[in-house]
Amino acid sequence: MTINDERRSHWQEVWTSKAPEGVSWYQAEPAASLALIARAGLSRAAGIVDVGGGASLLVDRLLERGHSQVAVLDVSAAALDVAADRLGAMAEDVTWIESDVLEWRPVPGLFELWHDRAVLHFLTRPEERKAYRKVMMAALVPGGWAVLGTFAPDGPEKCSGLPVMRHDAGTLSDLLGPDFDLVAEMREEHVTPNGGVQHFTWCLFRRI
Ligand SMILES: C[S@@+](CC[C@H](N)C(=O)[O-])C[C@H]1O[C@@H](n2cnc3c(N)ncnc32)[C@H](O)[C@@H]1O
Repeated sequence: MTINDERRSHWQEVWTSKAPEGVSWYQAEPAASLALIARAGLSRAAGIVDVGGGASLLVDRLLERGHSQVAVLDVSAAALDVAADRLGAMAEDVTWIESDVLEWRPVPGLFELWHDRAVLHFLTRPEERKAYRKVMMAALVPGGWAVLGTFAPDGPEKCSGLPVMRHDAGTLSDLLGPDFDLVAEMREEHVTPNGGVQHFTWCLFRRI
Protein backbone atom coordinates (compact mmCIF):
# COMPACT_ATOMS: atom_id res chain seq x y z
CA MET A 1 0.00 0.00 0.00
CA THR A 2 1.43 3.42 -0.92
CA ILE A 3 1.32 6.31 1.54
CA ASN A 4 -1.47 7.87 -0.56
CA ASP A 5 -3.54 4.64 -0.38
CA GLU A 6 -3.06 4.62 3.39
CA ARG A 7 -4.21 8.22 3.63
CA ARG A 8 -7.32 7.51 1.59
CA SER A 9 -8.25 4.45 3.61
CA HIS A 10 -7.64 6.24 6.93
CA TRP A 11 -9.99 9.07 6.01
CA GLN A 12 -12.62 6.81 4.45
CA GLU A 13 -12.65 4.88 7.73
CA VAL A 14 -13.02 8.10 9.72
CA TRP A 15 -15.88 9.43 7.63
CA THR A 16 -17.76 6.14 7.51
CA SER A 17 -17.45 5.42 11.24
CA LYS A 18 -17.92 8.77 12.98
CA ALA A 19 -20.74 11.29 13.14
CA PRO A 20 -19.70 14.54 11.41
CA GLU A 21 -20.63 16.56 14.52
CA GLY A 22 -18.46 14.32 16.72
CA VAL A 23 -15.05 14.72 15.04
CA SER A 24 -12.55 16.91 16.91
CA TRP A 25 -12.35 19.45 14.08
CA TYR A 26 -16.13 19.95 13.86
CA GLN A 27 -17.28 23.54 14.06
CA ALA A 28 -20.81 24.83 13.68
CA GLU A 29 -19.57 28.11 12.25
CA PRO A 30 -16.35 28.42 10.22
CA ALA A 31 -15.82 31.93 11.58
CA ALA A 32 -12.06 32.32 11.03
CA SER A 33 -12.35 31.01 7.46
CA LEU A 34 -15.19 33.39 6.63
CA ALA A 35 -13.42 36.37 8.20
CA LEU A 36 -10.27 35.84 6.13
CA ILE A 37 -12.16 35.01 2.94
CA ALA A 38 -14.08 38.28 3.38
CA ARG A 39 -10.73 40.13 3.57
CA ALA A 40 -9.96 38.91 0.04
CA GLY A 41 -12.96 40.87 -1.28
CA LEU A 42 -13.81 38.35 -3.98
CA SER A 43 -16.58 38.72 -6.53
CA ARG A 44 -19.44 36.24 -6.19
CA ALA A 45 -18.29 34.55 -9.42
CA ALA A 46 -14.73 33.96 -8.20
CA GLY A 47 -13.58 30.35 -8.12
CA ILE A 48 -13.02 29.09 -4.56
CA VAL A 49 -11.68 25.66 -3.65
CA ASP A 50 -11.91 24.21 -0.15
CA VAL A 51 -9.06 21.71 -0.05
CA GLY A 52 -9.73 18.79 2.29
CA GLY A 53 -13.09 20.36 2.95
CA GLY A 54 -14.49 17.18 4.47
CA ALA A 55 -17.98 17.75 5.85
CA SER A 56 -17.26 21.39 6.74
CA LEU A 57 -20.12 23.87 6.70
CA LEU A 58 -17.92 26.37 4.85
CA VAL A 59 -19.46 25.39 1.51
CA ASP A 60 -22.97 26.02 2.89
CA ARG A 61 -21.97 29.46 4.14
CA LEU A 62 -20.30 30.41 0.85
CA LEU A 63 -23.40 29.41 -1.13
CA GLU A 64 -25.59 31.40 1.30
CA ARG A 65 -23.38 34.44 0.58
CA GLY A 66 -24.01 34.04 -3.14
CA HIS A 67 -20.73 32.47 -4.23
CA SER A 68 -21.48 30.53 -7.39
CA GLN A 69 -18.15 28.82 -8.22
CA VAL A 70 -17.32 26.74 -5.17
CA ALA A 71 -15.41 23.46 -5.31
CA VAL A 72 -14.78 21.07 -2.43
CA LEU A 73 -11.92 18.60 -2.73
CA ASP A 74 -11.35 15.68 -0.39
CA VAL A 75 -9.50 12.37 -0.46
CA SER A 76 -12.57 10.73 1.10
CA ALA A 77 -15.67 10.23 -1.04
CA ALA A 78 -17.62 9.57 2.17
CA ALA A 79 -16.77 13.05 3.47
CA LEU A 80 -18.01 14.66 0.27
CA ASP A 81 -21.20 12.58 0.47
CA VAL A 82 -21.93 13.92 3.97
CA ALA A 83 -21.64 17.51 2.76
CA ALA A 84 -23.58 16.90 -0.46
CA ASP A 85 -26.40 15.07 1.36
CA ARG A 86 -26.70 17.93 3.82
CA LEU A 87 -26.97 20.47 1.00
CA GLY A 88 -29.65 18.53 -0.88
CA ALA A 89 -30.52 20.17 -4.21
CA MET A 90 -27.96 22.93 -3.60
CA ALA A 91 -25.21 20.30 -3.90
CA GLU A 92 -25.66 20.54 -7.68
CA ASP A 93 -24.21 24.06 -7.52
CA VAL A 94 -20.92 22.75 -6.09
CA THR A 95 -18.04 21.01 -7.86
CA TRP A 96 -17.09 17.93 -5.84
CA ILE A 97 -13.57 16.61 -6.38
CA GLU A 98 -12.57 13.26 -4.92
CA SER A 99 -8.78 13.36 -4.90
CA ASP A 100 -5.71 13.45 -2.76
CA VAL A 101 -4.62 17.08 -2.99
CA LEU A 102 -1.10 15.93 -3.85
CA GLU A 103 -2.41 14.00 -6.87
CA TRP A 104 -4.86 16.66 -8.03
CA ARG A 105 -4.09 18.24 -11.40
CA PRO A 106 -6.35 21.30 -11.53
CA VAL A 107 -7.17 23.24 -14.66
CA PRO A 108 -4.46 25.92 -14.43
CA GLY A 109 -5.57 29.24 -12.97
CA LEU A 110 -9.19 28.26 -12.36
CA PHE A 111 -9.32 29.46 -8.75
CA GLU A 112 -9.06 32.85 -7.11
CA LEU A 113 -9.01 31.46 -3.57
CA TRP A 114 -7.57 28.32 -2.01
CA HIS A 115 -8.89 27.44 1.46
CA ASP A 116 -7.38 24.78 3.70
CA ARG A 117 -8.35 24.18 7.32
CA ALA A 118 -6.48 21.38 9.03
CA VAL A 119 -5.15 19.50 5.99
CA LEU A 120 -1.74 21.00 5.26
CA HIS A 121 -0.59 20.21 8.81
CA PHE A 122 -0.71 16.46 7.97
CA LEU A 123 2.08 16.96 5.46
CA THR A 124 5.05 16.21 7.67
CA ARG A 125 7.53 15.39 4.91
CA PRO A 126 9.27 18.22 2.98
CA GLU A 127 8.56 16.60 -0.39
CA GLU A 128 4.83 16.51 0.42
CA ARG A 129 4.79 20.19 1.27
CA LYS A 130 6.68 20.94 -1.94
CA ALA A 131 4.12 18.96 -3.94
CA TYR A 132 1.25 20.75 -2.13
CA ARG A 133 2.67 24.15 -3.04
CA LYS A 134 3.06 23.06 -6.67
CA VAL A 135 -0.62 22.10 -6.87
CA MET A 136 -1.62 25.38 -5.22
CA MET A 137 0.47 27.34 -7.72
CA ALA A 138 -1.22 25.51 -10.60
CA ALA A 139 -4.72 26.05 -9.23
CA LEU A 140 -4.45 29.75 -8.33
CA VAL A 141 -4.52 32.69 -10.71
CA PRO A 142 -1.76 35.28 -10.26
CA GLY A 143 -3.19 37.69 -7.65
CA GLY A 144 -5.17 34.81 -6.11
CA TRP A 145 -5.51 34.19 -2.39
CA ALA A 146 -4.71 31.39 0.04
CA VAL A 147 -6.42 31.01 3.42
CA LEU A 148 -4.53 28.46 5.53
CA GLY A 149 -5.51 27.22 8.97
CA THR A 150 -3.20 24.75 10.76
CA PHE A 151 -2.43 23.71 14.31
CA ALA A 152 -0.28 26.39 15.95
CA PRO A 153 3.12 25.69 17.58
CA ASP A 154 1.27 25.27 20.91
CA GLY A 155 -1.48 23.17 19.30
CA PRO A 156 -1.86 19.38 19.41
CA GLU A 157 0.87 17.12 18.07
CA LYS A 158 -1.66 14.79 16.47
CA CYS A 159 -4.98 15.05 14.68
CA SER A 160 -7.21 12.07 13.96
CA GLY A 161 -4.42 9.88 15.36
CA LEU A 162 -1.94 11.13 12.74
CA PRO A 163 1.19 13.18 13.43
CA VAL A 164 1.07 16.80 12.32
CA MET A 165 3.51 19.59 11.61
CA ARG A 166 2.48 22.67 13.57
CA HIS A 167 2.92 26.08 11.97
CA ASP A 168 3.15 29.78 12.64
CA ALA A 169 3.01 32.56 10.07
CA GLY A 170 6.78 32.24 9.56
CA THR A 171 6.80 28.56 8.63
CA LEU A 172 3.76 29.01 6.39
CA SER A 173 5.44 31.98 4.65
CA ASP A 174 8.58 29.89 4.16
CA LEU A 175 6.48 27.05 2.75
CA LEU A 176 4.77 29.27 0.16
CA GLY A 177 7.93 31.21 -0.66
CA PRO A 178 8.48 34.61 -2.27
CA ASP A 179 5.57 34.29 -4.72
CA PHE A 180 3.16 35.02 -1.85
CA ASP A 181 2.70 38.03 0.43
CA LEU A 182 1.39 37.50 3.95
CA VAL A 183 -1.63 39.80 4.21
CA ALA A 184 -3.15 38.84 7.58
CA GLU A 185 -2.60 36.38 10.39
CA MET A 186 -4.57 35.43 13.47
CA ARG A 187 -4.79 32.81 16.17
CA GLU A 188 -7.88 30.82 17.00
CA GLU A 189 -8.84 28.71 19.98
CA HIS A 190 -10.96 25.94 18.51
CA VAL A 191 -13.20 24.21 21.05
CA THR A 192 -13.70 20.56 20.14
CA PRO A 193 -17.04 18.75 20.64
CA ASN A 194 -15.49 17.23 23.80
CA GLY A 195 -14.69 20.68 25.19
CA GLY A 196 -10.93 20.56 24.54
CA VAL A 197 -9.12 23.62 23.21
CA GLN A 198 -6.88 23.49 20.13
CA HIS A 199 -4.76 26.46 19.08
CA PHE A 200 -4.79 27.26 15.39
CA THR A 201 -2.66 29.57 13.23
CA TRP A 202 -4.58 31.29 10.46
CA CYS A 203 -2.98 33.17 7.56
CA LEU A 204 -4.21 34.97 4.48
CA PHE A 205 -1.69 35.09 1.65
CA ARG A 206 -1.87 36.75 -1.74
CA ARG A 207 -0.07 35.39 -4.74
CA ILE A 208 1.97 38.13 -6.34
C1 LIG B 1 -9.06 17.48 10.00
S1 LIG B 1 -10.17 17.24 8.68
C2 LIG B 1 -10.65 18.93 8.33
C3 LIG B 1 -11.90 18.99 7.47
C4 LIG B 1 -12.36 20.40 7.12
N1 LIG B 1 -11.33 21.15 6.43
C5 LIG B 1 -12.86 21.13 8.32
O1 LIG B 1 -12.30 22.16 8.66
O2 LIG B 1 -13.85 20.69 8.90
C6 LIG B 1 -9.07 16.87 7.34
C7 LIG B 1 -9.79 16.59 6.04
O3 LIG B 1 -8.86 16.52 4.98
C8 LIG B 1 -9.06 15.35 4.22
N2 LIG B 1 -7.71 15.01 3.77
C9 LIG B 1 -6.67 14.59 4.52
N3 LIG B 1 -5.56 14.47 3.76
C10 LIG B 1 -5.92 14.83 2.50
C11 LIG B 1 -5.22 14.92 1.27
N4 LIG B 1 -3.92 14.62 1.18
N5 LIG B 1 -5.89 15.34 0.19
C12 LIG B 1 -7.20 15.65 0.25
N6 LIG B 1 -7.92 15.59 1.39
C13 LIG B 1 -7.28 15.19 2.50
C14 LIG B 1 -9.73 14.38 5.15
O4 LIG B 1 -10.53 13.42 4.49
C15 LIG B 1 -10.57 15.31 6.02
O5 LIG B 1 -11.83 15.52 5.45
